[in-house]
Amino acid sequence: MKQLNPTAVMTEPPSSIRFQNTGAALWEKAKTIIPGGNQLLSKRAEMFLPGQWPAYYSRARGCRVWDLDGRAYHDFAQMGVGACVLGYAHPHVNRRVMEIVRHGSMCSLNPPEEVALAEKLIALHPWAEMARFGRTGGEACAIAVRIARAASGRSKVALCGYHGWHEWSLSANLQTGSNLDQHLLSGLDPKGVPAELAGTALPFRYNQLEELEALAKRHGREIGVIIMEPIRSVDPAPGFLEGVRKIADRLGAVLIFDEVSAGFRLNVGGAHLLHGVTPDMAVFGKALGNGYPIAAIIGKRSVMNAAQDSFISSTFWTERIGPAAALATIEFMEKNDVPDALVRYGRRIMEGWQHAAADAGLKIQVSGIPPLARLAFEHPDALALQTLYTQEMLDRSYLVGAAVYATYAYSNTIIDRFTADTTKVFRSIKQAVDAGTVRAQLRGPVKHAGFARLS
Ligand SMILES: Cc1ncc(COP(=O)(O)O)c(C=O)c1O
Repeated sequence: MKQLNPTAVMTEPPSSIRFQNTGAALWEKAKTIIPGGNQLLSKRAEMFLPGQWPAYYSRARGCRVWDLDGRAYHDFAQMGVGACVLGYAHPHVNRRVMEIVRHGSMCSLNPPEEVALAEKLIALHPWAEMARFGRTGGEACAIAVRIARAASGRSKVALCGYHGWHEWSLSANLQTGSNLDQHLLSGLDPKGVPAELAGTALPFRYNQLEELEALAKRHGREIGVIIMEPIRSVDPAPGFLEGVRKIADRLGAVLIFDEVSAGFRLNVGGAHLLHGVTPDMAVFGKALGNGYPIAAIIGKRSVMNAAQDSFISSTFWTERIGPAAALATIEFMEKNDVPDALVRYGRRIMEGWQHAAADAGLKIQVSGIPPLARLAFEHPDALALQTLYTQEMLDRSYLVGAAVYATYAYSNTIIDRFTADTTKVFRSIKQAVDAGTVRAQLRGPVKHAGFARLS
């Protein structure tokens, strides 16, 4: 793709938009026959660059993505929404998957790999004694909550953070509609969730132990489950995780750590292992299979055995690719100390943003664990600035959003080039801010901030 003069304030549309954008056109068609356009909010074009986002890919390898018109990009957005920690189409994982495909990925008998994966996850988490498997993160959280409710015999769940789309968690928004706004995704509409579930999911905010204390005081031993991410955007405040553990013990509630996003990025296994606080159950997804669908629920025997008292069962939870891919992914991670690279690369990206902003005189906020780094512009029209950043970086052949899931497929050279391009774009954004032309320079609408109905 043709490079633009990076320091110029753009008044003419760059050549790239005169190119065919088959993906953007397909996205418009998709929205007329698939409600919401696709199956995941985070992959909507509107979450990045409405009207211009390539939206679909023809191929992906390492940290590179090719759109439907053959244009190549470096992925500094989502790397498969955090799934592809090793990189796209990773040869080590793919080799194992191809073998499985050749030998039959589905059968009337069970895949032995799921027993090996259960053993592996238990070995990595010595407090855990049993495992179950699903294929998506939200589904695995729902399984965990079902088991925990069955084990505790109570229905109220205290929750912190995002845990997927299922009734048990969305019901938190039945009372006010905004209960979950502080939990990753704002504006989640619980339409279709039975109103009778109101009051069964009780949110508390991360690092606000007093909010969980207040819930414990109000609902006491009606709370049977506490579910939260052990870490995501900020480090746990001293005593926070320990305090949650104590409250769970006092209430006799099952404590679940949702490691769907944090797991297997800071270390091989759950991030909670780094903080010395042990849950009763933990849930994994995303990074576990490097993009192949697999999710795991691990836990103490006393809790996990409650799965036998409830009906939790599904045909495709028995396919063979997921557990085989997870075993191959973990093996590669251990051999190559992948989390160490993810943390180093994530830090380099975060520092790059900071330097670029300081150079341009832009105010930004950088947050998150390094392998899941977040960027926010500090400006009254922050979303417009974010959209302009995505637009200008797309012109320079990067997929960019408000967060980067680091991948082992990056290199210092790739990140340094990304930082150099970001520096140029930040300078042009600052010029646009000073000239009051940010919105005028957008070639389409401003991106969405959270959940919204698509027109
Ligand atoms: C912490 C956490 N839990 C659960 C989920 C849901 O996972 P999935 O999208 O695979 O259903 C996510 C997804 O972002 C997540 O970040």
